[in-house]
Amino acid sequence: MSTWWRHAVIYQVYVRSFADSDGDGIGDLPGVRSRLPYLRDLGVDALWLNPFYPSPQADAGYDVSDYRDVDPRFGTLADAEALIAEAHAYGLRLIFDLVPNHTSDQHPWFRAALASPPGSRERARYLFRDGRGSRPPNNWSSAFGGRAWSQVPDGQWYLHLFAPQQPDLDWTNDEVRAEFESILRFWLDRGVDGFRIDVAHGLAKDPAMTDLGTGHATSGPAVEGHPHWDLDEVHDVYRAWRRISDGYPGDRTFVGEIWVADPARLARYLRPDELHTAFNFTFLLAPWDAKALRYAVDESMRALASVGAPATWVLSNHDVIRHVTRYGDGATGLRRARAAALLMLALPGGAYIYQGEELGLPEVLDLPSELRQDPTFLRTQGADPGRDGCRVPLPWSGTAPPFGFGPSTAWLPQPPSWARLTADRQSSDPASMLSLYRSALRHRAALAVDDSLTWLPSARDVLAFSRAPGFSCVVNAGDRPASAPDAVRGARLLLASDPLASDNTLPPDTAAWYLTETR
Ligand code: GLC
Repeated sequence: MSTWWRHAVIYQVYVRSFADSDGDGIGDLPGVRSRLPYLRDLGVDALWLNPFYPSPQADAGYDVSDYRDVDPRFGTLADAEALIAEAHAYGLRLIFDLVPNHTSDQHPWFRAALASPPGSRERARYLFRDGRGSRPPNNWSSAFGGRAWSQVPDGQWYLHLFAPQQPDLDWTNDEVRAEFESILRFWLDRGVDGFRIDVAHGLAKDPAMTDLGTGHATSGPAVEGHPHWDLDEVHDVYRAWRRISDGYPGDRTFVGEIWVADPARLARYLRPDELHTAFNFTFLLAPWDAKALRYAVDESMRALASVGAPATWVLSNHDVIRHVTRYGDGATGLRRARAAALLMLALPGGAYIYQGEELGLPEVLDLPSELRQDPTFLRTQGADPGRDGCRVPLPWSGTAPPFGFGPSTAWLPQPPSWARLTADRQSSDPASMLSLYRSALRHRAALAVDDSLTWLPSARDVLAFSRAPGFSCVVNAGDRPASAPDAVRGARLLLASDPLASDNTLPPDTAAWYLTETR
C-alpha cells in the first residue's frame, strides 16, 4: 500500500498570488502550469491549490458559486484538467480545496432559497430561522466580525459563520450530503489526488442553536461543548467521504482544516475510517521557544499515534501572519524562520510550505487600506488588519514590481525591497532561503529514516532529537550560543540554517542536521 501522504511535503499555491499569465493582475491556473518546473526543482511532493472555482470573491474564492468549474479569472476547466495532467507528469500530486461549510450567496441554491418561502425545500438546504422578536435567533458572531445572522426581506434570518455572502449549509439535509459526494466524485474522476477540507470542524451545528456561552469564542481553536465547532455529528460526513475516496485507485487523501484546542479532539477526525491528515495548528501557533515547540511536537505525536495517523507540520498559510514576521521580523525573524524550516522538515510526518516561505517573505504590514480586500479588515472597520499581508503576489524575477509575477501590476502591491528576494536572484545564491529549502528537501528525500523520534538530552533552549537510523536535528532557539548535545559529537554535519561557530556550538536561532556514525 502506497501512503505518500504520510511523509509528503505539500506546497500551498495561493493561486491568485502565484503567477499571472494573462495580465489581469491576478494569478491563474496557466500561471501555475508555467511554474511547475520551479516546484519540481524545489523538491516538493504535492501541491495544494486554494479555491479557483467560480466565485464572486467576497472571501477570495471561499465563497463558491459553482463547485464543478473554474472561475474565468483563474482559467477554464480545461486548464484545471491540463494542470492535473502536467503536474502528474512532473511527479507532483494535486490537492484541491473543498468548501463544504458554506456556499456563495450567488450559488443557485441560495438564490433559489431567497426566492422561496420559509419552510420550503430550497430554504432547508441552509440554516434559515425565525428571529427572537426583532433580534436574530441567537448571539452567534461571525468569524470575520459582526453577527453571524443576516435578515431577508420576509423577516427570516440565515446563518453565516463567515461573511454574509457565505451562507452556511445545513449538513443534516440529505440533498446537501448527496451534492458534496457528487462534487468529490467530479474531481476524483478527473484525477485529483486529494482535498483540503475548509472549516472541517464546522459542518455540524447544535440543533437547538443555543447561545454561545462564556469561554466559547467564534475565532480561535474550539473548546469542548461549543455549539457550532467540533460537534460529534461531523464525523459521519467524513466516514461517508472516506468510503468514496477509498473506492478510487491511487491513494487519494483528505487533509482537514480543523481548529480545535485539544490534540485528542483533533485525532478523532483522523480515525482510520475518516480523514487521513489534518493541519497542525498547535505547532503553527507555538512561539519561537524550545519548550513550547517541544510541547507542540510531543502533544501532536502522542495524540495522533493513538489513531495511527501521521503528524503534519506547518508554519504559515494564507490565513496567518507570515512566520518570518511572527518570529520577530527583520534579520532575527529570518534567522529563526531558517531554523524553523529545518526543524519542521526533520520531524516525522508530512509538512506544508506556504508559497513564498521558501523565499523568506515577510508579512507586508503597510498595505494601503483602500487596497485591502479581506472581509476581516472590512467587517471590523480596520480594527483587524486582515490577511492580505500574507497574500501579496510572489516576486519571481527582475528589480521592480511586479517582479515577473505577470505582465502588469499585481492585485496587491509588492514592496520594492522584494527585489532582493526574487526566486531568480535566490536561485544562484547558495546562502539564500531558497537554496536552504532546496537542500533540505533534497536531503530529506534521501534520508530514509523511520517515523520514530527520540529526544536527546540538551540545554534548556535547545531542541535535539534523533531519528533512526543515524539522523539528528539540533535547534538552538535561545539567544546565546549553545553546545550541541554529546550525541552528535563527531557526527557529520549535513546542513545548517546558518554557519556554525565550531563543530559543536550552535549560534542563537540556528538549526543543524547531522548524520551519526550508527548509520
Ligand atoms: C478557512 C480558510 C479561510 C476562509 C474561511 C472561510 O479558514 O482558510 O481563508 O476565509 O475558511 O471559508
